[in-house]
Amino acid sequence: MSSDSTPPVIAISDAGHHVGETVRLRGWLYNLRKSGKIVFPIIRDGSGQMQCVAVKSNLPEAVFETLKGLTQESSFAVTGKIRAEPRAHGGYELDVEDVEVLQRVLEDQPYPITPKDHGVDFLMDHRHLWLRSRRQHAAIRVRHEVIKAIRDYLDGQGFTLVDTPIFTPSACEGTTTLFEVDYFDDEKVYLTQSGQLYNEANAMAFGKVYCFGPTFRAEKSKTRRHLTEFWMVEPEMAFADLEDVKRVAEQLIVYTVGRVLENRKEELKVLERDTSRLESVQSPFTRMSYDEAVKILQSKGSEIQWGGDFGNTDETLLTEGLDRPVIVDRFPSEIKAFYFQPDPHRPEVALGVDFIAPEGYGEIVGGGQRIHDLALLEKRLDEHKLPREAFDWYLDLRRFGTVPHAGFGMGVERFVAWMCGLEHVRETIAYPRMLYRTRP
Ligand code: 4AD
Ligand code: MG
Repeated sequence: MSSDSTPPVIAISDAGHHVGETVRLRGWLYNLRKSGKIVFPIIRDGSGQMQCVAVKSNLPEAVFETLKGLTQESSFAVTGKIRAEPRAHGGYELDVEDVEVLQRVLEDQPYPITPKDHGVDFLMDHRHLWLRSRRQHAAIRVRHEVIKAIRDYLDGQGFTLVDTPIFTPSACEGTTTLFEVDYFDDEKVYLTQSGQLYNEANAMAFGKVYCFGPTFRAEKSKTRRHLTEFWMVEPEMAFADLEDVKRVAEQLIVYTVGRVLENRKEELKVLERDTSRLESVQSPFTRMSYDEAVKILQSKGSEIQWGGDFGNTDETLLTEGLDRPVIVDRFPSEIKAFYFQPDPHRPEVALGVDFIAPEGYGEIVGGGQRIHDLALLEKRLDEHKLPREAFDWYLDLRRFGTVPHAGFGMGVERFVAWMCGLEHVRETIAYPRMLYRTRP
């Protein structure tokens, strides 16, 4: 309890509930504008920013001079009365009565990020500080909303969260992109590429499950869509097929986009996102087979041949002029992982599906129906030259009450980049890990 003499500390985001009251804000100096006998410090506290107004004639000299001498990113607390100010950013201002400096940033060692244009490498080297900037702050808040919306959606649909291990003894998505780790006693393990194989076991125990965590790919791709460490949500359902995957993933996307639009308006404004491009993300999405997609791409001048995988440019071409993701299914089995169920009418294609986001954001969802037949799965493991022993537990799922089942993975960073309209996924995660970046 605060006594009458100590004003309550509030979050800037809560200012609307304290108009006319004297409160205390704690934060960092974002900017300072001086205009003769008035100074306007902008304080940010993580929840928002507020312009403070300090008038020389209303304040003790020391208070005014302290404010006037504040340097960028100095930490301080300020006391004053909240006033509604429609012209101000956020709608409120604080008339300063007192100030207390926690740490003043020194002039000879100033905050390295200034309003001037820094190169992205410099900013990435200072990522631990760059996160304080408005655009970075906004992107990370959109990410938070995306993650929360995904969880809310799946929890509301009866999915149980069952997290899967990060150290794994075998590959899920093929052996070429595994990070190897020295475990104890000369044992080798790998950082997980996907929780899917464990999800399949969990689906047989819980029906509908999801895992949500970091996944790792030792891909030497230096594109704006690839990280070596990224977060993926992976729902998996027993008694489900390819059509269920398309339906659930589409609903999940529409719901999550809606939540971002509803709860992150301010952030989208800071990011200068054209929100009309997100408002049009409604059901139904355009659906096509891989065969049709190849024909469309060829007609648009792509060199792709049947049997090839889509490149980044192909994905962008495919959604050209469209206002929502495209769903492409039935890829050639040859280019897909070992676990995909073949189409019973055309065994050369897999019951797999990709969702390609518009505006060049590329594949955001990949998934499909899994092989549930023991003999066929064993055959596939052999064809892919994968050691059966390592997958023995996985084969058990086909020995003990096997059922058709299906699921998918959605990459958080690509989704957030799309929501924010960001050029590169590196700004959608606090500390991106890429081919040439593991610091800070
Ligand atoms: O298509 P992927 O590789 O699918 C799987 O891993 C399946 N086992 C998932 C499942 O069915 N449970 O990856 C799924 C998604 C992609 O659509 C993309 O959004 C994201 O994960 N992704 C990446 N995001 C950032 N950087 C990378 N290197 C990514 N690789 C995949
Ligand atoms: Mg994929």
